[in-house]
Amino acid sequence: MKRYSVVICGGGSTYTPDMLELLVMMQKPFPLKKVVLYDIDEERQRIVGNFGEVMFREYMPDVEFKYTLDKKEAFEGIDFAFVQIRAGGLDLRNYDEKIPYKYDRIGQETCGAGGMAYGIRSVVQMIELVKDIRRYAPDAWIINYSNPAAIVAEACKIVFPNDKKLVNICDMPTDVLGRYIGYIGKKKSDVNPMYFGLNHYGWFTHLYDKQTGEDLLPELLEYVHTHYDELHKEREEAIRGPEDHWSITFLAHLEMMKDYPFYLPNSYNLYYLYPEKMKSHYSLEHTRYDEVISGREKNVFNYCREITALGKMKGTKYDITDRISPYTTVEGDLSSETIYSDNDVHAAYLVELVLSIVNNANAQAMVMVKNDGIVPNLDPGMMVEATVLVGKEGLIPLCHGEVPQFAKGLLENQYACEHTLVEAILEKDDQKLLQAFAQNRLVGDTEVAKKIIAEFKEVNGAYWPDFK
Ligand code: NAD
Ligand code: G6P
Ligand code: MN
Repeated sequence: MKRYSVVICGGGSTYTPDMLELLVMMQKPFPLKKVVLYDIDEERQRIVGNFGEVMFREYMPDVEFKYTLDKKEAFEGIDFAFVQIRAGGLDLRNYDEKIPYKYDRIGQETCGAGGMAYGIRSVVQMIELVKDIRRYAPDAWIINYSNPAAIVAEACKIVFPNDKKLVNICDMPTDVLGRYIGYIGKKKSDVNPMYFGLNHYGWFTHLYDKQTGEDLLPELLEYVHTHYDELHKEREEAIRGPEDHWSITFLAHLEMMKDYPFYLPNSYNLYYLYPEKMKSHYSLEHTRYDEVISGREKNVFNYCREITALGKMKGTKYDITDRISPYTTVEGDLSSETIYSDNDVHAAYLVELVLSIVNNANAQAMVMVKNDGIVPNLDPGMMVEATVLVGKEGLIPLCHGEVPQFAKGLLENQYACEHTLVEAILEKDDQKLLQAFAQNRLVGDTEVAKKIIAEFKEVNGAYWPDFK
């Protein structure tokens, strides 16, 4: 039986431990030969790598596990590269989010001015990384979820137009679905969703029952509408404090469902449709960055350090033996509560995709793909996020059909901005850079755009291309 070799780029990412655990849990359907972590930050990667060594030694001693800063060692002979790099690290995320606040604009990792600054760094580094991976592993699948994924996907489309094994994904659509589908007594695995948009800007338009073929979205929307007050109260009560970002976001999401009672929207639509409300959750002194540093990053690294100090997981509260056996089929619902830290949706979504590839199962997934008529009334070149079938031959998009003017208008503005930004990066064109920032709905003013760009240039140093 084929055993797979995997590299995780961004080995020191806060998402790596969950992914490693899931790989261990998935050892029957996805047999492993080698797992390598690759990063450019030795210290971060060592923390996660030490944890990985303990886990693989205990649960999968036959698998070669290592971590390295060397590209050749990392990429040679691999079948899958999972890419989760944060170009410029969390230090620059801080500026991505804080600088826009100085100009009374929302600062967000993937949307608005901050998302564009992050996009500039990510595009440059992703292009280099993809070239490096292809040098040593021309046939490997490269599954990228480094953000801002919409901008990265747009650049990949232009720079690697014929690379059908380079896929950009995001866990947010499936996460949103998971937060609503239970209301009508179903699980995510019960439905085939139809979805369209740009990454972090989209809508579910149909949820087809796998058994009956019935579209369950109308029933779901009706449920939300008739139980709105009670759901609102539930979501309010679920908020554990001012730093419970995702619970706060999904309360606002429910409110968005009331204002726009058609389709099921992505949570990131909030930033475009309610910028004032979303802005009010944070300030120049405190943004999502601060929560991630004191929350996820601290927790995940402590988890790794603790297991490293114990030198074992078996027989401790971290033992995952019981969690290995259920993962034996491709059909299994991976989206249940399975993993210790809070990144499980992400890891599960990734593995579902990989299983569909290796088994040539052609299962449905929502990924980024060139429009080319999927949504006929949107630009054919647009990298849409849409429902596709995933198998060994790559992505087979499902035709979606036209979308309403409301969505079309929002998306075309954002796409023009993302596309112009990518052109600016590839051509080092400062006029296009200004156009991209100024036309972004969350910037919306040329003088402000100029000031924000100047500040980003300053703090990004060598990460900032030499725009002329
Ligand atoms: P993080 O900063 O904790 O980890 C990222 C790691 O990447 C760091 O260890 C860093 O040293 C490393 N890195 C940076 N540049 C690199 C390069 N050029 N080559 C190799 N390694 C490099 O960040 P995180 O919060 O764990 O997130 C990781 C990435 O995954 C981010 O881009 C994040 O936005 C993304 N993400 C995306 C989704 C999605 O839905 N698409 C979901 C989760 C995370
Ligand atoms: C969701 C998004 C990702 C984002 C992640 C973490 O999963 O789809 O794109 O990276 O959230 O965001 P956070 O603000 O918690 O770092
Ligand atoms: Mn995402």
